[in-house]
Formats: sequence, structure tokens, C-alpha cells
Amino acid sequence: MRGGTKTGAKIAARHEARLLWAGNPGLYALLQAARHTAPIQRFPRLGWVVTDPLLARRVLNDAAHFGMTGEGGVGHLWSQLFGEEMAQFFGGPRHAEVRARARDLFTEDGAAALVERSQGAHYRALAERLARGEVVDVADSTRVLAGRMVADLLGLRLEEGAGDEAYRELFSAGERLAALAMGTTASTVLPAGVLHRARAIVADITRGVAEGYRTAGADTILGRCRQMGLGLPMTRALATLLAIAGTETGASGTSRTVALLHDTGQQAALLADPSLLPNAVREGLRVATPAPVIGRSVRRDATVAGRLLRAGERVLVLTYLADNGAGPFDIHRPYVPETRQLWFGAGRHLCLGAAVARTQVARMLQTLTASGPYRIVARRPARRVLVPTYASLLVQAA
Ligand code: HEM
Repeated sequence: MRGGTKTGAKIAARHEARLLWAGNPGLYALLQAARHTAPIQRFPRLGWVVTDPLLARRVLNDAAHFGMTGEGGVGHLWSQLFGEEMAQFFGGPRHAEVRARARDLFTEDGAAALVERSQGAHYRALAERLARGEVVDVADSTRVLAGRMVADLLGLRLEEGAGDEAYRELFSAGERLAALAMGTTASTVLPAGVLHRARAIVADITRGVAEGYRTAGADTILGRCRQMGLGLPMTRALATLLAIAGTETGASGTSRTVALLHDTGQQAALLADPSLLPNAVREGLRVATPAPVIGRSVRRDATVAGRLLRAGERVLVLTYLADNGAGPFDIHRPYVPETRQLWFGAGRHLCLGAAVARTQVARMLQTLTASGPYRIVARRPARRVLVPTYASLLVQAA
């Protein structure tokens, strides 16, 4: 491993394991149990568990046999919250149409514009604080940054002068909504009380959507929804999807990449050769895999690697294990063709915000290394969260 050490790799792996355990002990246990099993294996109560990258893509690319909307898929959760129209949406033609219409907003250029508009000032302030020798909390920043992006996407005009606190609150509302899905590894049916709480959170975070839907320009997601004649209820549902999909994952991917680059001792390589930045981002997201499990339901009987999966059964694709099979974080590792970008999923639901996510991680690494190396002075893992991450990650210029 050029640029890093074996000790560095071990330290990084220990911190990652601690994050997974603290954040989601059930997931940690599942990852440990599945580490040495066959590439596809049936687990009691959970269903089929896939750990191989090629089989993972085989399942995610096969929408005819594996769906999101039945019991076991995230679409099932969404349809309980937003009704039948949303249930139809995930598996139907409207989904492809919305993606096609929104595509140009999420290209590399679109992502750069969104990140600069909603987050640029925060990165600049962070760089100034580091240059003054201050200790900054990168984990807190990732939550504020995610909140800023969500406010932009949802057309929320938070009060002038409200400062970072309003964005932290927006992030935490999304976190509370996602946490309600925490108990769904064994079943994706939401009890009435949970649904009630979830609807209250949705009403709060989408409070700006009605006005945005009426008035937002065609260069925004809400404006596009209006142009397509999607209607306000579906627009609220899609806005919520956007708000949830990219916040915890984005925050986790960013702070963990910052930690991985530091812990493996590979910062020096990046400082010596800034053209390695895209590699650092790719490796950070591969090793962290902030969406460690992707659920699907079997729509029709299917054979995968010689195993017969029956209609109605569930599949858990353990992207975390599939991605990490290639080895530890290595800034010099070339693109891994087996995994491709499995941390963003694959097939028709491939992450729409992939370019946004990459841009955010890159901006954070650039900010932290702008005037030399950084060191981590303290850290604390988040407890009981959907996406394992740091609760705090205190960083200072070295
Ligand atoms: C490191 C950060 C991120 C990771 C690891 C990630 C990962 C994923 C994965 C694995 C999926 C597929 C889920 C499935 O197939 O069931 C997905 C879908 C999605 N992501 Fe991301 N995501 C990230 C950031 C973002 C951001 C920043 C946004 C928005 C700005 C976003 C928007 C979406 C949307 C809208 C979908 C649903 C796409 C569809 O169903 O067609 N994601 N993401």
C-alpha cells in the first residue's frame, strides 16, 4: 500500500468497526455473520443475503424480478407514507420520466452549482477557522451542510440570521424520519403510531414545498415537478425522498472519508499530488459505503448463482461487504471494475445524487487540506442511527 501503512489500515478499520457497532448493532452483527458465508445465502427471518458485488448488481439490475415496492423494499415504506400513487411511482413509467426530467440538475455541473449555491459560504468559513488554528467539528459541519442543501432543494426559506441551528434542526428532522425506518430490517410494515409520527415530520420539512411548487424556477426540482404536472402531493413525496436520500448518507460519507484519509496516513500522498482527489473520494465512499444494505422483494421466482429465490421473499444486498471485498482504503487503488460504484446502488434506482455526493466530499477534503495537513483531535461515534457516522469529529490544522 503506497502512501499508507499497515498500522494505519488497522487503525482505520478499528474506527470504522466501532462506528458500525455504535450506530447499528444489529447491522454490525449481520455484517459479521455474513462475512464468511456463501455469496448468496438464506438467513432465518431475514431472507436472502447477498455479499458478492457481481451478484449484487445482478439483483439490482433485474427490475423484472426484484422490486422496491413489495414488503422488504424501501418503496414499501414510502407507499405507506404517501399512498398508492407513490407505490406505483417506484415501479412505473413515471419514475423513469422524473429521472429523465431531473437528470440535468444532477450532472457534474448541476451538482457543482447546487453545492456552491447552498454550501459554498460554509466551506469558506470553515477554511478560515482552520487557518486561524481553531478546532472545527467536521461531523457537525456535515449536518449543517446537508441541511443547507435540503433547504435549497425543498424551497425552504429559513429566516435570515437563523444561522446554522435552523439547518441542524432540518437535518435532525430528516434523521428522525429515517430512524422510524430503523426497525424495518425484519419487516417493512409500519405500525399506526409510527406512521402518525412520520407524517408529522413530513408536514414540517415540506412546509415550503407548496409555495416552491407554485413559484420556483424551471432550474429547480420543484419547478420541474410543476412543469411535468406531477401535482402537489406527489411533489411533496418526491421532495421528501430527495431530502432523506442524500442527508445522512452524504454526511456519513463525508466525515468518514475525512477520517479514513487521516487514519490510514494517506493525507501526505494527496497533498503531494492533488490530482489524487477523485481517488480519495471514491475510496472513501467505497470503504464507508454509507448505504450498507439495499433491500428488495422478489417479484417473480428467480435463479441467482444457482439458488432459487421465490416470489414474495426478501433480499438484502449487503453493499458494505460487497464494496469492502476489494481491500482497505488506498488512495492509489485504481477503479475497481467489479464494484463499479455499488455504494450508489445500481440499475434503475442508481443514486440520483451521486455527483452531488462526490462534489461534497471533494469540497470538504479540499477545505481541510487547503493550507496543509489536518489532524483529528477527538471523535465520537453516533449511537442508534440508520446510517453509521460520527456524532463529532474534531479536526485542527496539523
Ligand atoms: C455518499 C452519499 C450517498 C450515498 C452513499 C447514496 C446511496 C444511494 C443508494 C445506494 C441508492 C439506491 C437505493 C436503492 O436502490 O434502493 C440511492 C438512491 C437515491 N439517492 Fe443517493 N446516496 C448518497 C447521496 C445522495 C444525495 C446527496 C442525493 C440528493 C441530492 C441523493 C439522492 C438519491 C435519490 C433521489 C435516490 C433514489 C433514486 C431512484 O429511486 O431512482 N443521494 N442513493
